[in-house]
Amino acid sequence: MLTRLLLVAGLCAAQVQKSLADSSACSATATVVPSGTSIPVTVTVTETVTAGASSASALVKPKVFIINHFALEEAAWTKPLKLTKLIAAPGFSPLFPNAKCNAAGAICQLTTGEGEINAASTISALIQSGKFDLTTTYFLVAGIAGINPACGTLGSVALQHYAVQVDLAYEIDPRELTSNYSSGYIPLGAQTPIQYPGFLYGTEVFEVNAALRDKVLSIASNVTLNDSSIAAEYRTKYTQFPASQPPKVFAGDGITSDVFWHGELLGKAFSQFAYILTNGSSTYCVTAQEDNAVLEAMLRGSVAKQVDFSRIILMRAASNFDRPPPGVTAAEQLFYTNQGGFAPSVQNLYLAGRPIIDEIVGNWDGVYGGGIEPLNYIGDIYGSIKGQKYRPDIG
Ligand SMILES: *[C@@H]1O[C@H](CO)[C@@H](O)[C@H](O)[C@H]1NC(C)=O
Ligand SMILES: *[C@@H]1O[C@H](CO)[C@@H](O)[C@H](O)[C@H]1NC(C)=O
Ligand SMILES: *[C@@H]1O[C@H](CO)[C@@H](O)[C@H](O)[C@H]1NC(C)=O
Ligand SMILES: *[C@@H]1O[C@H](CO)[C@@H](O)[C@H](O)[C@H]1NC(C)=O
Repeated sequence: MLTRLLLVAGLCAAQVQKSLADSSACSATATVVPSGTSIPVTVTVTETVTAGASSASALVKPKVFIINHFALEEAAWTKPLKLTKLIAAPGFSPLFPNAKCNAAGAICQLTTGEGEINAASTISALIQSGKFDLTTTYFLVAGIAGINPACGTLGSVALQHYAVQVDLAYEIDPRELTSNYSSGYIPLGAQTPIQYPGFLYGTEVFEVNAALRDKVLSIASNVTLNDSSIAAEYRTKYTQFPASQPPKVFAGDGITSDVFWHGELLGKAFSQFAYILTNGSSTYCVTAQEDNAVLEAMLRGSVAKQVDFSRIILMRAASNFDRPPPGVTAAEQLFYTNQGGFAPSVQNLYLAGRPIIDEIVGNWDGVYGGGIEPLNYIGDIYGSIKGQKYRPDIG
C-alpha cells in the first residue's frame, strides 16, 4: 500500500538553475444524471436531467471546479464542501464516473484519473459534456507532488505560474552515451541535453494567470498547514534550506511527466529542461503527472470559448522529495523509505485550497465574477489564445 501511495504520489523532481523567488461545485437538488444521457454541445442546451425536484434544470454553472487526480486527493473535499450531487458524463474516467457538486452548484469537483492520458481525456469530456457552463468557472487543479528541496519541503504547497512538460524528449540510456552527455534525455529535434527543442508538439509549456496566482497565494499563505512527526524528522536530513524548514505555501513552478522519475541527476536534467523551455523564466519546484495534459484540454476549451484560461489555479502539495538527502541513494528513498509526507500533502491541498474557494465564492460579485485580469501572457507555447495584451514570453 505504501509503495502504491508513493507511486501515485505524483512524480519526481530537479535543481533550480536560477535563484528562487522564495515567496516563498453545481446545481440544486440531489439529482443524479444518468451516465448514458447524451447531450448536445452548444449554447442552448436543454438538459435532460431526471429532475428530482420541481425547478427546471439549467446548466450547472460552478464558480469553482476542483480538479483532482485520484481517490485520496478527492477525499479531502467531498464532506466539508458537501459535494453530494453526482453528475456523470460520457468520457469521464471509468474509475471516477461522476463530477460531484454542492447543492447550490457553486462548487464542483472531478477526479481525472492519473497520468497525462487520463487527465486530458477527462478534462476534454468535462468541457464537451454539455452539462456545465464553465465560461466563468475558476479551476483549482489540486494534486500531490514530488518537491525539489531547493524550493520547499514535505507538505509544502506550491502555486504555479509555469507548467513545463519534460517527458517529450529523446531518451537514450546513459550507459550507451559517452560521458560528455549530462543526461539521457535530449529535447526533440536537438542533439544535446542543453539545446532548445528542434521542434515542438505544443504542450511543452503553459503559462497561467500570475495575477490570480499571486492573489490567491496571499490568501492561502497564512493558513496553518498539517505535518507529521515522520515528515518533521525526515526533513532534518536535508542540509538545504528550505527543505529542512516546516512546510509553507509558496510560489513555484511545476513540471509534468508520465515517468515517475527520481533522484539528483534527473532532477538537475529536468530543471535545465524547464529552464531552457521557458527561456529562464520558470523555476522548477514541483512534479506532476497531469498538469500539462489538463492545461492542453483547458486551452482547447478556451480557444472554443467554453472555458476561461485566465481562471486556472495550479496547486501542488508535496508528498515526497524528488531526490534524496546526503548519504541516501535514489532507489533507497523511492522504494524503501516512508518520508511521512503523504497524509499531510493531501490534507494541505484542502487546507490551502479551502480559503481560496471561500474567497472566490464569497467575493464573486464585484471581484471574481468579472475575472482577474492577467498581467502576463497566458496559454500555450503556440500563442493559441488570441487577442491578448501581452506577447508570449515562453520559448
Ligand atoms: C560528445 O562528444 C561527441 C564526440 O566528440 C560529440 O559528437 C557529441 O556531440 C558530444 N555530446 C555532447 C552532449 O556534447
Ligand atoms: C489570513 O489573513 C487574513 C487577512 O489577511 C485573515 O483574515 C485571516 O484570519 C488569516 N488567517 C490565518 C489562519 O491566519
Ligand atoms: C495533521 O493531521 C492529522 C490527521 O488529521 C492529525 O492527527 C495531526 O494532529 C495533524 N498535525 C498537525 C501538525 O496539524
Ligand atoms: C530570452 O531571454 C533573453 C534574455 O532575457 C531575451 O533577450 C530574449 O529576447 C528572450 N527570448 C525570447 C524568445 O523570449
